[in-house]
Amino acid sequence: MNPEFPTIPAVGPAQLHDAPCRLEGRDKVRGQAAYLDDFHHPAAGGPLDVAVAVTSTQATGRVLAIDAAAALAMPGVRLVVTHENAPRLHQVTSLTGTEIGGLLPLQDDQLHYYGQCLALVVADTLAHARAAAQVQVSYSAPVPDAAFTLAQGQARAKDAKKVGGGDPGQVQIGHPAAAYAAAPQQVDLTFTTSPHHHHALEPGAVLAHWTTEGGLTVQLPTQFSYGDALILGQAFGFGLRERLPGFAAEALGISGFNRKVRVISPLMGGSFGGKNGNTYLLLAPLAAKLTGRPVRLALTRAQTFSLMPFRGETQQRVRLGADANGRLQALLHDAVAATGAGGEFVEPVGELTAKLYAVPNILVHHQAAVLDTNAPGWMRAPGSCVGQFAVESALDALAHQLGLDPLELRLRNYADREPDTGKEWSSKSLTQCYQAAAERIGWAGRDPRIGAMREDGRLVGYGMATSMYLTKQMPATARVTLHPDGRAVVQTAAHEMGQGMITALTQIGAEALGLPLAAVHLDWGDTLLPYGGMSVGSTTTLTNGAAILEAAELVKKALFKRVVADKASPLHGLSAQALTVVDGRITAPDGTNEAVGAALARHPTDLLSKEATTGRTFGRSDYGRAAFGAQFVKVSVDPDTRHVQVERLVGAFAAGRIINPLTVRSQLLGGLVWGIGHALLEESHIDPRTGRWMNDNLAEALVPTHADVADIEAIIIEEDDTRGHPLGVKGLAEIGSVGTAAAIANALFHATGQRLTSLPLRIDKLLVGR
Ligand code: MOS
Repeated sequence: MNPEFPTIPAVGPAQLHDAPCRLEGRDKVRGQAAYLDDFHHPAAGGPLDVAVAVTSTQATGRVLAIDAAAALAMPGVRLVVTHENAPRLHQVTSLTGTEIGGLLPLQDDQLHYYGQCLALVVADTLAHARAAAQVQVSYSAPVPDAAFTLAQGQARAKDAKKVGGGDPGQVQIGHPAAAYAAAPQQVDLTFTTSPHHHHALEPGAVLAHWTTEGGLTVQLPTQFSYGDALILGQAFGFGLRERLPGFAAEALGISGFNRKVRVISPLMGGSFGGKNGNTYLLLAPLAAKLTGRPVRLALTRAQTFSLMPFRGETQQRVRLGADANGRLQALLHDAVAATGAGGEFVEPVGELTAKLYAVPNILVHHQAAVLDTNAPGWMRAPGSCVGQFAVESALDALAHQLGLDPLELRLRNYADREPDTGKEWSSKSLTQCYQAAAERIGWAGRDPRIGAMREDGRLVGYGMATSMYLTKQMPATARVTLHPDGRAVVQTAAHEMGQGMITALTQIGAEALGLPLAAVHLDWGDTLLPYGGMSVGSTTTLTNGAAILEAAELVKKALFKRVVADKASPLHGLSAQALTVVDGRITAPDGTNEAVGAALARHPTDLLSKEATTGRTFGRSDYGRAAFGAQFVKVSVDPDTRHVQVERLVGAFAAGRIINPLTVRSQLLGGLVWGIGHALLEESHIDPRTGRWMNDNLAEALVPTHADVADIEAIIIEEDDTRGHPLGVKGLAEIGSVGTAAAIANALFHATGQRLTSLPLRIDKLLVGR
């Protein structure tokens, strides 16, 4: 292998063996973990009503009439809520740009998309509500020029000022057009990617309860409990500010947060970006307000297609200009992303483009086209997942054109500094990732000629791609309290979507306090707790971990101050600055020590409790900060049917310090599997005549199953990123999928000579281009 590759230790079986298992894992496997649909609000004081949503069967035009008489006559039905009798809501701010910020439910007769909520049938049981949910709706004629696909809505594309979470939609470095025109080697490819949905096993669900004091308690699986509480507070007129100037102000303004609205987020059955700020958040509270009783609403699987977000359709043109040696002179990335009714979110397709390779001239140009659908939103590795498919496919085409090894092409354009800012990287172990994954898959042993490899009668190909995920840190607050029994309680309103948050944050708390894991308890998922930020963008471990680390330092300081002043302590009179906590014992440099519990027990009524807020600058840094990785893949293709099998998929990733190798490995494997689905299967079909999501069920919405996932491996490269942040943690969740689709498409090209530029890489597309 290339001798330039330095060696960095990878996380191996020993670390996996020693890592703590998920703290909630035992409950989960025994069926004792409660998800929203499993529980009743303890304060509800009686049985719960159940609501079922009735959705539109037309995308545009107006509702002329809703006939609820038949439903109201059915057994157990309490109420049918429509725009005619629903309480009026105030406009809300969705901090994550979701549909609800522009479109409140059940407020008027205007149709915006197929599957829009038009009525809620509220009954005493789910069976009664379902039976009665046959409300008759009549519509005006639909508008003639509706657009449900980018092909139909091409003319609506407009330059996007902001994309994703507020990043600039337009980036220009140097003179990209001129540099491209002058480059001796050019690649110009256009890519399309289909819409697809999250398919979290647990659909969106919400339970609302108006308290006798006029407060509102809402329980729902969400990635942003405080954000949802702000929406509820605004919508129902709890006197919160109408407009909030951004996340930072919101985090800092938390003292003014209206405590009459409480959001509790239980364990989630997956979310992947799809669970926060959604329309259904307001539906159960609307119904409960009218009935005066607690109401629970769970979407049907079909309703998750229109009442939850999804990844919108994209079109991308990538132009590469290079010299004869493959050194990139120009990289131009033009993207059009579909958006929908109400939402502000634009898929940040080119988020990574100006940060990937050492290119002097770069253009990133985003456009958005508003279609007559529900709004697309955040979905696992927003932007980078689809953007990297295009850019890394184009690089593969350039490597082929130059007769260069695709890996060698990446190394020739390796970015030693962050290309768009010129900043040094806080750390970057991408060469180590390339090396580890290439060795593991046997890259050097392949026959690089196109279509030259066969095994058992099938065409075989190898492909690779670069992976990357920007490291971000969100504002968050944590409170750490030491109790007289020597145990610590860590409180932050973080969210457990299945990613392992509870375990990772408890570990960080235990380590920061010098206590065993069993002595630390994490309180999470409730807006009665300190602001926990939003669990998006692979940021939770860093975001909440940073706040916990700081609060733990403050509480230890207070503890040390107390013991050195305490005549009953063996540490009395020593220097507080020199103390540490090791294995639950406060320890001086000379070895004198006392158990934390013993020191605390002498002051049982005087709790030590400290709060810290971190991330106010969103992790702004003098360094470029990102996690890096690479996927290498081997595919086989049936020469006749063009069936594609991913035979092996190896990803190697470096993301700073790994808090828990077990949960991280699971995240990465999940990302790799997601990448296989993204490449080969996942696609939500919309009817171009009606705007209806057609495969709105888990039978026809294809995702990888065991037969689609052969041999996958996630290699974790350890790296020191304490210069990026004292915790040393980067984001490591979504990166598994970034680049995977390109690696598979590139392997397909190697196997067949077919360069497919449209995701998913379906058999019918391969048969046409043969
Ligand atoms: Mo993730 S799509 O940022 O929840």
